[in-house]
Amino acid sequence: MRVSGVFRILALIFATVTTWIIVRNHMGFSMKTIRLPRWLAGSSTKETQVMKHKCGLIKPCSANYFAFKIGSGAANVVGPTMCFENHIIMSPVKNNVGRGLNIALVNGTTGAVLSQNTFDMYSGDIKHLVKFLKEIPEGALVLVASYDDPGTKMNDEARKLFANLGSSYAKQLGFRDSWVFIGAKNLRNKSPFEQFLKNNPKTNKYEGWPELLEMEGCVPARPF
Ligand SMILES: *[C@@H]1O[C@H](CO)[C@@H](O)[C@H](O)[C@H]1NC(C)=O
Repeated sequence: MRVSGVFRILALIFATVTTWIIVRNHMGFSMKTIRLPRWLAGSSTKETQVMKHKCGLIKPCSANYFAFKIGSGAANVVGPTMCFENHIIMSPVKNNVGRGLNIALVNGTTGAVLSQNTFDMYSGDIKHLVKFLKEIPEGALVLVASYDDPGTKMNDEARKLFANLGSSYAKQLGFRDSWVFIGAKNLRNKSPFEQFLKNNPKTNKYEGWPELLEMEGCVPARPF
C-alpha cells in the first residue's frame, strides 16, 4: 500500500514536471502554482536566462528588498527548498531539511543567514520548537517550510508564538498540512508572505497530502 503510494506520487511528479516543461516551452508563460523546484526539473533544460535574477525570480527586487523563493515539501517524498538572496539556505540537495517544520533565520537588515533548523512535529518534543521561537532575536526574518507533517505535536503556545511572528494560519496548522511562511518578531500586521493548504482527502493532490506550495517574491528589509 505504502510502496504503491510512493510510486503514484513519483508518477504524479513526473507527469507534472513533463507537463510543466511542455507548457513552458510551447506557451512561454510561467505557471506559478504548480511549478516544481528548479532542481527537480533537471539540469538538462537550459535555465541560464531564467537564473539571471536572484532565486530565479522573473523580475529583480528593488533596493532594500530581498529576493526569496520557498517551496514546501511534496508529500513525504521530496523535501522543501528555501532560497534567499540567491543563496540556497535549506534543500534536499544540501541534505539539511527534514520532516516537520524547517525554519531559517536571516538578519532582516543585512540578509545574512543566522541559522537553519528542523523540528520534527510528528515524534519530536514540542519544547524545542517553543524554546527556539521564544529566542528569535528582534530584527530577524523567519522563513518556514513544512515537510510531510508539521502539525501533530503543535500546541497552543507554539501557535501563539507563530501568530506573534505574523502568521494567520498557524492557529489551524494540523496533520500533513502544507505551509510556507515568512515572518518577523512583533509584526504589527499579519505577514503577507504566507500560503497554506489543509490536508483534506477530498481535495488532496497526493493520496495523503495536499499539493506542495511555492511562494516567491521580494520581502522588504526590516523594518517592514
Ligand atoms: C543584523 O546585522 C546588523 C549589522 O551587522 C547588526 O547590528 C544586528 O544586530 C543584526 N541583527 C540580527 C538579528 O542578527
